[in-house]
Parts: sequence; C-alpha cells; structure tokens
Amino acid sequence: KLVYVLNGPNLNLLGKRQPAIYGHETLADVERDCTRVAIEHSLAIRFLQSNAEFQIIDWIHEAREDAAGIVINPAAFTHTSVAILDALNTFDNPIIEVHISNVHKREAFRHHSYISSVASGVIAGFGTQGYQFAIQRMAHLINQVKA
Ligand code: DQA
Repeated sequence: KLVYVLNGPNLNLLGKRQPAIYGHETLADVERDCTRVAIEHSLAIRFLQSNAEFQIIDWIHEAREDAAGIVINPAAFTHTSVAILDALNTFDNPIIEVHISNVHKREAFRHHSYISSVASGVIAGFGTQGYQFAIQRMAHLINQVKA
C-alpha cells in the first residue's frame, strides 16, 4: 500500500527556517524517518514538497489513482486554501493533517484549518516526529479500511 506524504510551502527550507519553531531537522531527514517507519509497517511512501498550490492539488488528484492514504502538512495553505480542501474531499481514503509546531499556541490566524474537516486526525506540536506518528496511525487506518 502506498501513502502520499505531501508538504506545502517553505517546508523545503526546514532545518534552516525559524529553527526555534520548526527544529533543526531537514525535510530530507523527515523523509528518511518516514521511509523507515513506513517500511516497518509494510507501507511505501511517496514524499513530496511544493511551494505551489496547484502542484499539491495535482498530487492529490494523482493520489486518487494509487494511494491508500494521504499525510499532509499543507503549511500556510492550511489557513487559506479552499482549493486544497476541495481536492482532499475527492479522495476517499484516510487523510491525516500534520503540523510541526503547535499552531494553537501561535498567532490567531493559524488557529483555523480548512483541512481539518476532512482529516481523520490532526497532529500538531510534536515537531518533525509528528510525521512518524502520522504514518503509524495511517498504517492502522489502512488496515481497517482496505484501499
Ligand atoms: C506549519 C504551521 C503553519 O501555520 C505554517 O504556515 C507552516 C508550517 C507547521 O508545520 O507547524 O508553514 O504547518
């Protein structure tokens, strides 16, 4: 079973970007950790990042064809994108939303997510480890729902 791990804008700079908030691990480190956890659970992952909203939407459309689940950190698009919400609403398998930081203890504009209404669960504030929790949980959900 294949799980897409989608990352939104500015996450390519992870490790260099506001490390006091987002930590020192790079996105390549996150991909490596996700791959390890996925293998432990007999899953494959397709790990992707884009700064462009249309690209994330196109990947969600691709996921409709071959993914058993989507783990997504939409980054700033979390708080702005009805288009990503609409795309995710066309996806019939489980979706888990991840945020590295605890968005609820940050600025008020980060408190609302357009994505949470389609997510099976939301992980926030556990740093980059949150991705590993998401994949573990996704393995559990996929085994229940069968893609
Ligand atoms: C983020 C939180 C968002 O508010 C922010 O725009 C990001 C990253 C996180 O992982 O904590 O870019 O999604």
